[in-house]
Amino acid sequence: MADPVARDRVEWLREQINYHNYRYHVLDSPEISDAQFDALMQELRTLEAQHPELVTPESPTQRVGAAPVEAFGVIDHPVPLLSLGNVFNREELLAWHRRVTGLLDGRAFDMVCELKMDGLAVALVYEGGRLATGATRGDGYHGEEITQNLRTIKSIPLVIQGAAPRRFEVRGEVFLTKAGFEQLNQERARQGLPLYANPRNSGAGSVRQLDPRITAARPLDIFVYALGWAEDGAGMPATHWETLGFLKDLGFRVNPLSVRLGSIEEVASFCEEWVERRHTLPYEADGVVVKVDNLGYQQQLGVVGREPRWAVAYKFPAIQGTTRLLDIGINVGRTGSLNPYAILKPVQVSGVTIRHAALHNEEDILRKDIRIGDVVIVQRAGEVIPEVVGPVVSRRTGQEREFRLPEGCPVCETPILRPAGEAMARCPNRACPAQGLELLKHFVSRGAMDIEGMGQALCAALLERGLVKDVADIYYLTAEQLEALVMGQNKRTGNDIAVGQKRAGNAISAIEQSKARPLASILFALGIRHVGGETAELLAQRFGSLAALAAASEADLMQVEGIGPKVAASIAAYFSDEENLRIVEKLRQAGVALEAAPTAPRATPLQGLEFVFTGRLERFTRTGAESLVKELGANASSNVTRKTSYVVAGEEPGSKADRARQLGAKVLSEEEFLHLLEEAGVKG
Ligand code: IVH
Repeated sequence: MADPVARDRVEWLREQINYHNYRYHVLDSPEISDAQFDALMQELRTLEAQHPELVTPESPTQRVGAAPVEAFGVIDHPVPLLSLGNVFNREELLAWHRRVTGLLDGRAFDMVCELKMDGLAVALVYEGGRLATGATRGDGYHGEEITQNLRTIKSIPLVIQGAAPRRFEVRGEVFLTKAGFEQLNQERARQGLPLYANPRNSGAGSVRQLDPRITAARPLDIFVYALGWAEDGAGMPATHWETLGFLKDLGFRVNPLSVRLGSIEEVASFCEEWVERRHTLPYEADGVVVKVDNLGYQQQLGVVGREPRWAVAYKFPAIQGTTRLLDIGINVGRTGSLNPYAILKPVQVSGVTIRHAALHNEEDILRKDIRIGDVVIVQRAGEVIPEVVGPVVSRRTGQEREFRLPEGCPVCETPILRPAGEAMARCPNRACPAQGLELLKHFVSRGAMDIEGMGQALCAALLERGLVKDVADIYYLTAEQLEALVMGQNKRTGNDIAVGQKRAGNAISAIEQSKARPLASILFALGIRHVGGETAELLAQRFGSLAALAAASEADLMQVEGIGPKVAASIAAYFSDEENLRIVEKLRQAGVALEAAPTAPRATPLQGLEFVFTGRLERFTRTGAESLVKELGANASSNVTRKTSYVVAGEEPGSKADRARQLGAKVLSEEEFLHLLEEAGVKG
């Protein structure tokens, strides 16, 4: 007979743990710290060890993974799991909509758009409110029984919240987040195991493990997107959108980015928007699934073969391709870092020809076991430079060569340094021409001193002729010098004298104008290691002048929130170098502003909030409103995310406002925004 006190406590602990687990893994909104959560788990484990008769399969302690099996059992799917027809562009999507409209005799219908997760489809059966079985999609009619593996995924409820049908099946996609994937690959690299090429393969591989303990150790997640079937399901929702809400209420994780839209134009815009924005997602999505919302209409439309007529997948263009790695080149960066890059047999990936791709550093190349001559997977992700994901080992011929960095800098031949604990090898020669050029290009670039008309060719020519030896020298250039140089360049292109004079004159005035750039710009432009645009902004706000920053100790620097020991050490090192101080002095003498303008942001009630503006505002332009909140210490962004605090919606606000409501951000009218500004002490 179990001890009633222990039983009560165990039950209480399980309720608490399930609740906090739900807050953390399903809602992404924890209420207690990890340590507090661990303490609850620890107490439960101890009690269960003392009272083994109290252990049940639904106990949160049982998510660690049961004993391995020889092979998976088979589960029949009473209602088959369908697949989806694909469309690849707006025209095809519109054609799908026309067909459906025709089949519905011209009636209008709402559609639900959901991101199409790139993972493994699963079906979860609940009986009496408890997870009974979980299976893969398999061929749609029979899947593999992987209940023990699915139990280890914390966002899958083992026990349902609230009233639910006696038996029902929920469908969803199990996936690894991008961060989880990185973490998994790092772990594999440490163990000397081959790396996974992408989150999808590794996610699917993680779930289909014969040993559930392996699954338990992987950071898997799920989004559920359908109710497969339900017994005793009287009073079930009549639309897909309501079904998603119903599943959410039962405690399932439903993607908060889904929307219900009334017109196919809105649907098309949603799909196209996500083609670009998908790179900002923490997981991989390979398209948008568009579904007819009305379940009655779904019935009426039916299925052809394996594909329902009532849904379609708008597929994103592929972001990966394979090609041959012809060689590995090395760029010398502005701080002397040696950056290897891939020279590829040109390959088309989502409409763009890729010839070069990032390889990060030597360690990364060795870790991924990328060899010269390999067939490699290349990937384009967002705006960033394409990267080499890894080799296709099965296509090796034995002719491939391992890569090693040279002993000397490829440009100036100075022996390279490999600082302990740093992945990047560096050329220590400050006079290395490659570094000089990169630093100068950086100095004049947008975001730094933003000097228009000083392109790569002009920078290179200035250094070559010895007219510029360090970045401060550009402020001492004369119009004559520049003219002579520009004319030299122009001779080749056959331009006349007047054009040359004009270009030189423009460059001189752009250089002159740049003297008044904000302090953050100059701090960034100097090219101090580890000081990017954001850090420069922080430093400018905190220190107010270059002199104050130069005088700060490492300890002072570390007081600034967002500045860690590595950055602090780098800044201190920069300003203890005579040569750097000489350059700063030259900048000062040339009249470059080295102090912040007096309008430093005040501490205001808006500090740290994030705003998104959408729609037409009456009293502000969008940029005007954005700079206003920035002045008040808040951030402005164009994307609605979990970090968004307020969405200010003007006329015709579009989908951002809907997104905000789903994510729980507050939506303000322009009136309410003005009110908020007043509270923050600003006259509207
Ligand atoms: S609906 C007709 N919704 O895509 C209903 N599927 O080809 C078919 N998938 O492997 C499924 N995210 O697991 C649906 N939001 C979503 C989805 C989704 C990913 C997967 C699904 C299956 C494939 C369908």
